[in-house]
Amino acid sequence: MDFKLTEEQLMIRDAARDFAKAELLPGVIDRDNKQEFPTEQVKKMGELGFLGMMASPEYGGGGMDTVSYVLVMEELSKIDASCSVIVSVNNSLVCWGLDTYGNDAQKEKYLTKLTTGESIGAFCLSEPEAGSDATSQKTTAIDKGDHYVLNGTKNWITNGGSADYYLVIAQTDKEKKHKGINAFIVEKGWEGFEIGPKEDKLGIRGSDTHSLIFNDVKVPKENRIGEDGFGFKFAMKTLAGGRIGIAAQALGIASGAYELAKEYSKVRKAFGTEIMNHQAIAFKLADMHTSIEAARMLVLKAAMDKDNHENYDLSGAMAKLYASQVAMDVAVEAVQVHGGNGFVKEYHVERLMRDAKITQIYEGTSEIQKIVISRSILRD
Ligand code: CAA
Repeated sequence: MDFKLTEEQLMIRDAARDFAKAELLPGVIDRDNKQEFPTEQVKKMGELGFLGMMASPEYGGGGMDTVSYVLVMEELSKIDASCSVIVSVNNSLVCWGLDTYGNDAQKEKYLTKLTTGESIGAFCLSEPEAGSDATSQKTTAIDKGDHYVLNGTKNWITNGGSADYYLVIAQTDKEKKHKGINAFIVEKGWEGFEIGPKEDKLGIRGSDTHSLIFNDVKVPKENRIGEDGFGFKFAMKTLAGGRIGIAAQALGIASGAYELAKEYSKVRKAFGTEIMNHQAIAFKLADMHTSIEAARMLVLKAAMDKDNHENYDLSGAMAKLYASQVAMDVAVEAVQVHGGNGFVKEYHVERLMRDAKITQIYEGTSEIQKIVISRSILRD
């Protein structure tokens, strides 16, 4: 495979790198401490086109490839994974889902605002009893002719409080199991739609995660995405691409932690020399660098598969499984390289370590990725 990046991809990567250093780094510790949503930063990312990178230009999107998107995700995640998850959900799950499967009217009304950052989106699949087991949706949408009536609760929804538009997956016909599931566009403020309290999280504390409660919410029929019964496939297809974005987020967390550890090892002295001169540290850095490069190749392979219209279920799941493990391992080691300083907030690595954990959980746990991978390789 040719992993050489084009001039344009390198320019986009560098723009994201500069932006992250200039705009995300200041205040990142404070936002994490206070669980503060990065409103200003999201606005700026919208202006730069980071919120609808892959969407069609006719609906305000950047029309860019997936490789450019993962490069941006990596750069943002090196500095602030709370910001990058907002970018990931808006791009991969919401804009891509609407652009690929929405009709012209839905794209005109919703996508044009989501691509520019004028509005933010959320993807609502998980429930108290249906996180991994996505076919077991308890939220119902009952067909009433010209509208559906939505009832139920969604959990752990990224952008839950800050979103304007929500893609909600619900069961319309229990008898039909996954073939009786649909996806709907729901607007904030509709009667009966309540946003639950914000979760107090271990990591990605700047992003807002909420439960959502739907109590007899009237959803117009024109807000259903695709044919009747398409909702489960919509969710699976969308999540398959989302996993590439989260794999890139994990890669970014790992690279961010590694770069901090490497720089620290050049200035911190112990036993009369910089700690990089001790094999105990140098070998850690060698292992980190090697695993990050391997993760990067898997992430780029998955992105290229998507760009080349190949099946990316397998490559996306492998990228997410591996990169999230690398994020966790590298972040823990980066804290170790920093010693006592790694345990305090101002050195950033403890935050990256906390942020790394979620990449093994959302958009399908590591165990779910293994289900997807094993099914795929055993079917061949
Ligand atoms: N593309 C297209 N169709 C797919 C598909 C894919 N990637 N994966 C499954 N399907 C289809 C199957 O072909 C099947 O359709 P047919 O009956 O027509 O053949 C149907 O969907 C059901 O498939 P399975 O029998 O394989 O379903 P399953 O119940 O065994 O579940 C699973 C499969 C992979 C475990 C799935 O449930 C899954 O991915 N679960 C995890 C869900 C998840 O990622 N949750 C995270 C929440 S979202 C989030 O975190 C967002 C956020 O806020 C950051």
